[in-house]
Amino acid sequence: LNNGLALSPQMGWNSWNFFACNINEAVIKETADALVSTGLADLGYNYVNIDDCWSSLLRNAEGELVPDPKTFPSGIKALADYIHGKGLKIGIYSDAGAFTCQVRPGSLFHEKDDADLFASWGIDYLKYDNCYNLGIPPKERYPPMRDALNSTGHTIFYSLCEWGQDDPALWAGKVGNSWRTTDDISDSWASMTTIADLNDQWASYAGPGGWNDPDMLEVGNGGMTYPEYRAHFSIWALMKAPLLIGCDVRHMTAETLEILSNKEVIAVNQDPLGVQGRKVSTEGEDGCSQVWAGPLSKKRLVVALWNRCSKSVKVTAKWKDIGLESSTKVSVRDLWKHEDVLENVTGDLAAKVDAHDCKMYILTPAGYTSPI
Ligand code: DGJ
Repeated sequence: LNNGLALSPQMGWNSWNFFACNINEAVIKETADALVSTGLADLGYNYVNIDDCWSSLLRNAEGELVPDPKTFPSGIKALADYIHGKGLKIGIYSDAGAFTCQVRPGSLFHEKDDADLFASWGIDYLKYDNCYNLGIPPKERYPPMRDALNSTGHTIFYSLCEWGQDDPALWAGKVGNSWRTTDDISDSWASMTTIADLNDQWASYAGPGGWNDPDMLEVGNGGMTYPEYRAHFSIWALMKAPLLIGCDVRHMTAETLEILSNKEVIAVNQDPLGVQGRKVSTEGEDGCSQVWAGPLSKKRLVVALWNRCSKSVKVTAKWKDIGLESSTKVSVRDLWKHEDVLENVTGDLAAKVDAHDCKMYILTPAGYTSPI
């Protein structure tokens, strides 16, 4: 969507994956505090996004949405002011249907009023869900909210959450700043790998202004191992997915913070070229030994060697698969070791990768000096 936003994928936090409906204004404020104190805000995680369950069960007599008085007694405007005071941005949630998934009022046929209300609160981002949609196709239900947001005069990030219904990559580029390509992620290896594969098929439709959204991060929620979360984060970054943290950032382990804070991996995600990397080769039993790669600015490439097998394997990225001429020599930087590991590599790049782990590299053609 050409509204000046999403030149790189959005970064921030969302309440759903960890808290579901157990949210309140203290949790949201403490999360904003923690994003700042942990350094995550400085790394680019700047949207604090409230998901479902912030609203009362009914609209008020004027037909307006009302924050739940028990959990958000100070209202959303006060929360927005608090979050803006920290230098962060605030996101809210509604639904392109009669109700939200947790049966709060939806915004279908209330687009203008609700967008104006959100704008009056200082909202910077809207996630727009797909429950109770009355069987109306998403292509009809999502553009009215785009137009309503646009007419508020505030610039509001528009995140479509239509769960991949009707292949949004084919039509949502003009509607939203990102669109979900799949059903909900859950905190498991099976879910994460399945979603990565589904999202991959739409790679060519992503770019500055509009991104494929394979759903929010589960890093730190406990259902995967450290290597699995490292792979999850690496592949989401390479796929130019939104990097929306989904754990309780007030209580993260050192490992979780280390993954989410990897500056070099974040830089891949935020690279100005904005091309979604993709799966370029599969080998081994069930294709579990995989290479994912894509171009970056300054003629560089990102390459992930992803072992989805149950034992350690050697994974090989061949130049022909990643789009390099056979004679091209590159230097290789390991983004998890934070080290330049090899010089003058040509033909292929191979490494042993542990089960369910992922290595991630930037390849820079030899002799190439950046003009900047
Ligand atoms: C379905 C969405 O896909 C989730 O991300 C979350 O927003 C829930 N609905 C909330 O009810």
